[in-house]
Amino acid sequence: MILKDRVAIVTGAGSGIGRAGALIMAREGAHVIVADIDLANAEETVRQIATAGGNGEALAVDVTDDKALEAGMTAIALRHGRIDILHNHAGSQVAGNLEDVAIAGFDTSWSLNVRAHFMASRFVMPIMKKAGKGVILNTSSSSGVLYDREMIAYTTSKHAVIAMTKQMAGDYARFGIRVNALCPGWVDTPFNAPFISQMGGRSAIEGYIAEKVPLGRWADVSEIAEPILFLVSDRSSYMTGQILVVDGGETVV
Ligand SMILES: NC(=O)c1ccc[n+]([C@@H]2O[C@H](COP(=O)([O-])OP(=O)(O)OC[C@H]3O[C@@H](n4cnc5c(N)ncnc54)[C@H](O)[C@@H]3O)[C@@H](O)[C@H]2O)c1
Repeated sequence: MILKDRVAIVTGAGSGIGRAGALIMAREGAHVIVADIDLANAEETVRQIATAGGNGEALAVDVTDDKALEAGMTAIALRHGRIDILHNHAGSQVAGNLEDVAIAGFDTSWSLNVRAHFMASRFVMPIMKKAGKGVILNTSSSSGVLYDREMIAYTTSKHAVIAMTKQMAGDYARFGIRVNALCPGWVDTPFNAPFISQMGGRSAIEGYIAEKVPLGRWADVSEIAEPILFLVSDRSSYMTGQILVVDGGETVV
């Protein structure tokens, strides 16, 4: 087990990629704090972790609520005496071009996709510095390195995650803390439901992905969980400030 006895926090771990990442970390021996705004979904992830023989606990938190986030993280640090891994994953996609996108949607994209990563990292940093080690993984997206048609709020926030990751990595490497970014492509989770309905349903999106993605299909969450495990474990011990794109080849064409 490559994460034995480590304490990991995963935000947005009540569903999709975050849940798959939480499950693989627990499989490798980490105690996983499943942080999500949806307590029932977080508890379901914890149940799946326990069924597989791992350890986890749910933390109901809106990561855009600074006070609640700080209180949750402080409680975890006090209870466990350490935080080894933070995976900032919760995020949302708001559609629209410069003129169409709701201003509130732009603000939500910023506060959830960027500011919450910033705040959570800021809360854990003193703990990791004191320990002289730690790993932060920030979820960006292939939209963090690509143009994404009429998605200005999403792409702006996801590009910012990459800049922020490099800044954190450069500033904190001397404390033994590594910070990397994950850029998934099309992953079949509830996250894409709004885009699918905007496209006109499941068969329309299947056609779109078959044409856009060289591998011709969606990723399964398990195919993103393995890169997550790589990035949060010592397997990537000489890697910091990097962007791992896992997109079936979408960005090469
Ligand atoms: N699925 C994809 O195709 C894809 C591709 C690229 C990047 N991503 C990124 O992955 C992340 C989520 O994707 P997913 O596929 O796991 O989505 P998902 O919809 O399956 O899960 C998102 C989870 O985040 C939680 N959440 C939402 N707002 C929250 C908040 N304010 N506080 C705490 N938790 C909150 C939700 O309750 C949900 O459990 C996002 O950052 C997204 O940009 C997804």
